[in-house]
Amino acid sequence: MGSKTAARNAQDDGGRRDVYKGAMSSASPDLRTVHVDLEARAYDVLIGAGILGGLGDFLAAGTFREPVAIITDARVGALLGERTQNAVLAAGLSSFMIEVPPGEGSKSLEVLAHLHSRLARNKVPRSGTIVALGGGVIGDLAGFAAASYLRGIHFVQVPTTLLAMVDSSVGGKTGVNLPEGKNLVGAFHQPKFVVADLDALATLPPREFAAGMAEVIKYGAIADRALFDRVANGVTAEDDDLAEIVEKCVAIKARIVEHDEFETKGERALLNFGHTIGHAIEKATGYSRYLHGEAIALGLRAAAWLSVWESGLPEAEAKKIEAALLDNDLPLELDRKVDREAVLAALGNDKKVASDGGNRWVLLSKLGEAKSGCEISLEVAAKAIERLVA
Ligand code: NAD
Ligand code: GLY
Repeated sequence: MGSKTAARNAQDDGGRRDVYKGAMSSASPDLRTVHVDLEARAYDVLIGAGILGGLGDFLAAGTFREPVAIITDARVGALLGERTQNAVLAAGLSSFMIEVPPGEGSKSLEVLAHLHSRLARNKVPRSGTIVALGGGVIGDLAGFAAASYLRGIHFVQVPTTLLAMVDSSVGGKTGVNLPEGKNLVGAFHQPKFVVADLDALATLPPREFAAGMAEVIKYGAIADRALFDRVANGVTAEDDDLAEIVEKCVAIKARIVEHDEFETKGERALLNFGHTIGHAIEKATGYSRYLHGEAIALGLRAAAWLSVWESGLPEAEAKKIEAALLDNDLPLELDRKVDREAVLAALGNDKKVASDGGNRWVLLSKLGEAKSGCEISLEVAAKAIERLVA
């Protein structure tokens, strides 16, 4: 890109950002913005209560073309679909909504093909836009539809679960599952914009809120001791500092993604703390016994003890992680009916393990400090899994 064009684009972007930030901050005086600086793929994450209504202003201020396809699940569609569609229509853009069944089962090639067909039948052009309205399942699925339809179109993330707000809507990982494993087909495709309206959390079931807290605890554990200490005693959707907590998590993820967008340098892998055993538990239990965040909570507990045994985490800090999980209503104990051998076997299917040919783990040396690429033998991993039923 020539420097004049780059300067013009920066000016245009600045103008657009003023328009939508103006609209959103009048809805939410406490609007917080985290910029994800990925040069040509840079974007803002907007966090605040009541900001969904500003979505249309951003779309209208940008280079987005109609029709806007809002992809959601049936539960979120019933709660927020009309409000989202009205925000788009108010900005003078036509839109249509596609609803898929709620749950992990929708992150499949079959549902993806259905989305592609609906986009094609509605003649969504290359300049068209997808709005992903929902939790991480919708963000991953709709994001991958946006990455693959017509070789890639714009998309906007409107996360409606805590987990999606603090984690899955940011960073551009999109994809679907195969029967062989989770997230095995996908692409990096950054959103153009993320609108995290905290008001959406009012209807989120407490169990789902708690599942999101597993990722919040993870951020504190890997990168921010003060955040960890704040959330360790429990967080609720009504807490006055929720916007600040979400902002801190998003900022941690944004800084990591900026340095290692495609997870090639080891830094982004830090975000997988607790996920190796967590994913194995999800797989061994058919993605149905535990919510994603609950499996991650169990994985965090196991990874805390691995850190004590292998990387010098003080035992008292592992116990603090356990207490934080408990105080945020997350499971500490693996259901005894779960086949632990199957969990161990599933470790080998985790793509983060398989892709570099060995068992590589993220471990803590102290709360707030993590390192990736650690070697752990299968015996020690088995001991950590046993710890979950001890
Ligand atoms: P989810 O998308 O299944 O949502 C959980 C449930 O809450 C669903 O039943 C949904 O209908 C309902 N729901 C959503 N918003 C609601 C609201 N505001 N009010 C009431 N109900 C609401 O689950 P999730 O926990 O958000 O996401 C899990 C998925 O995210 C997994 O597939 C995981 O692999 C993925 N993930 C992706 C990344 C990434 O970087 N791309 C990171 C973490 C997790
Ligand atoms: N959730 C892990 C990542 O985005 O890299």
